[in-house]
Amino acid sequence: MKILILGARGRLAAALARIWSSPHEVACLSRAEVDIADLGALDRALAAQEFDVLVNGSGMTNVDACETQREEARAVNALAPAVMAAAARDKGARFIHFSTDYVMDGLKTTPISEEDPAHPLGWYGQTKLAGEQAVLADGASHLVVRVCWVFGPDKPSFVDMMIERARTNPRVEAVADKFSSPTYTCDVPGWIEPFFSLSLPGGLYHACNSGGCSWREYAEFALQCASESGVPLATTTVEPLKLKDMKAFLAPRPVHTVLSTEKIRRVTGISPRPWQEALREYIHKKYAPLPSSL
Ligand SMILES: NC(=O)c1ccc[n+]([C@@H]2O[C@H](COP(=O)([O-])OP(=O)(O)OC[C@H]3O[C@@H](n4cnc5c(N)ncnc54)[C@H](OP(=O)(O)O)[C@@H]3O)[C@@H](O)[C@H]2O)c1
Repeated sequence: MKILILGARGRLAAALARIWSSPHEVACLSRAEVDIADLGALDRALAAQEFDVLVNGSGMTNVDACETQREEARAVNALAPAVMAAAARDKGARFIHFSTDYVMDGLKTTPISEEDPAHPLGWYGQTKLAGEQAVLADGASHLVVRVCWVFGPDKPSFVDMMIERARTNPRVEAVADKFSSPTYTCDVPGWIEPFFSLSLPGGLYHACNSGGCSWREYAEFALQCASESGVPLATTTVEPLKLKDMKAFLAPRPVHTVLSTEKIRRVTGISPRPWQEALREYIHKKYAPLPSSL
């Protein structure tokens, strides 16, 4: 398969590119090659490429910056995916576009399915939802894949920040009243690869590790795994904060966005493993000291 990945310097796309590069032929376009907010340049760049599968891992992902840089967020998250979808359709290629739990309002306290109506609270979620809708309207074979709380080796995320903080600080805090499903970037390629075959249906899918947790539980489990891996920490407990007290947050955040992965399991036969297992593996691989050579 010839796969073209956009946003290849990103946390998720970098893992997809690395893991799919064997046995597939992977080409990447990063911001240095094309600014996807320039829709004409994006269209020309895609027309010049050959691919069987087009993957969009790019996005304006800083939710607070989206509130203030609204036009850029709209171009990157809402308009560019429509250009990509059309380019993939022209070439008879499958298009796989990534989206977010922030399209939901977070009021439903049980796992969210793909049928639950989206209702974003902030501009990031609104632009991502517009991107989802444009992609799904363009063609039935396109895929929109929602992930949340993404962690992995290609770019530090929340859990790495918590571990760094706990190395020197005996008091570590995280929000205890917001809940979602962590997603390990190195697990995503295996869940999505079956869709390279056009025999599997396109549409909207949730793809995250199974289970859910609060930010505080996520952080505390990360500290425990780091400690098990031999990282010297000043604490392995995380004190609770309230979402409403996070004065630095500009954008509203949805409270409950644990996603159900039942649909992707039904269609592919693959059950995403629990987030704790994935996080333990990630932290162990990244932080455990290498065995000394004999
Ligand atoms: N991170 C999360 O926790 C999370 C949660 C839910 C959903 N998601 C979704 O998952 C997907 C991947 O997220 P991620 O965490 O991998 O994001 P990321 O690390 O921020 O990567 C996004 C990539 O998009 C690129 N990009 C942004 N604006 C661009 C532009 N105008 N032209 C070209 N490239 C541009 C960035 O390039 P630069 O490196 O040059 O800035 C970056 O490489 C996104 O669709 C996001 O909405 C992420």
